[in-house]
Amino acid sequence: MRTFLTATMAVALMAIGCEKKSAAPAAAPAAAPAALAPTGDTILIGEVFSLTGGEASFGISSRNGIEMAVKAANAAGGVKGKKVETRVYDDQSKPEEAANATTRLVNQDHVVLILGEVASTNSIAMANVAQPAHIPMITPTSTNPKVTQVGDYIFRVCFIDPFQGFVMAKFARDNLKLNKVAVLRDLKSDYSTGLTDVFTRKFTEMGGKIVSVETYNKGDSDFRGQLTAIKHAAPDAIYVPGYYNEVGVIARQAKELGLAVPILGGDGWDSAKLFELGGSAMEGHYFSNHYSPEDPSPRVQSFVAAYKAAYGSVPDSLATLAYDAAGVAIAALKRAPDLSEKAIRDAIAQTKDYPGVAGNITLDENRNAVKPAVVLKATKGRVEYVTTINP
Ligand code: PHE
Repeated sequence: MRTFLTATMAVALMAIGCEKKSAAPAAAPAAAPAALAPTGDTILIGEVFSLTGGEASFGISSRNGIEMAVKAANAAGGVKGKKVETRVYDDQSKPEEAANATTRLVNQDHVVLILGEVASTNSIAMANVAQPAHIPMITPTSTNPKVTQVGDYIFRVCFIDPFQGFVMAKFARDNLKLNKVAVLRDLKSDYSTGLTDVFTRKFTEMGGKIVSVETYNKGDSDFRGQLTAIKHAAPDAIYVPGYYNEVGVIARQAKELGLAVPILGGDGWDSAKLFELGGSAMEGHYFSNHYSPEDPSPRVQSFVAAYKAAYGSVPDSLATLAYDAAGVAIAALKRAPDLSEKAIRDAIAQTKDYPGVAGNITLDENRNAVKPAVVLKATKGRVEYVTTINP
């Protein structure tokens, strides 16, 4: 196992190294190395993730999950007698880089399909390259509706934000009995904007009131001005549909300002780094997510054990859904009558009752999965399962 991982990581690092060097546009596609050519005895799958930058933990977890699935598939004989290989590019948590990396995977590496990204804004940038090239793309975890709306080659194996926003609105009203909520959102993130809209609409429809809306920009580190304005509005809770990097700091500064109300959020909070950044200020806050590693089902527990053995940590929802996305991709490659782009696309579209770790996956006519969500609570430096909400 150790040798395998080392070799895989070397390939990934080589790919990252290549990316840095080839800053020039990929006008003249370099020949793919013989061992990786799709027509040879291997099948090449591309990956684009944030392995560095403000969302690095998203990409690292996702890459791990995919490597686990690919390794298992190869151990079981590969696909159509061929070995599955992956090529990973780091987009540094930036949409422009995600688009560039996708162009490289399509024009230069000639991958059969692409897995990525996590952040919806980055997935939209990728989809705008993959769709016109007719290269199938599956995002494991991007939840904004616009991602799969780019076109018929773009899929996801997770629920979408119109559902996720409803989940937290319902939990806030029915379980926490909250009346007044303030919102603090990331101005330029499609994910944050989309979730804010749905949460606001649903919470208001359910009889609640939004008493203040403040914004920030990705990478900001001082939220005291916004939090002071929110404090004046005296909310029962603050909804922060952002990513862990900012959320941890927001929780800390809210506590320092004496804003002692629950903070609510979405799947973007899911990172071990949340507690490194937020520390004890995370205590008692809630977020919606795709699965809980505490789920006692054997499917979840055997995956959690295998992942821990391989990577030394509990798999977050990024790792788990990336594992599931790779599983859906590999199952489709096996089912496809041939390895043409159209045949692979059609096989993915027909995914039905695929037994994912984070729930069964059936893709609807809009190429989205319909699945339940869980609500988790941050407590004592860990995340505790609270409840499941069905679509
Ligand atoms: N759903 C988020 C988005 O679309 C990404 C995300 C998923 C982050 C799961 C963490 C966990 O941007």
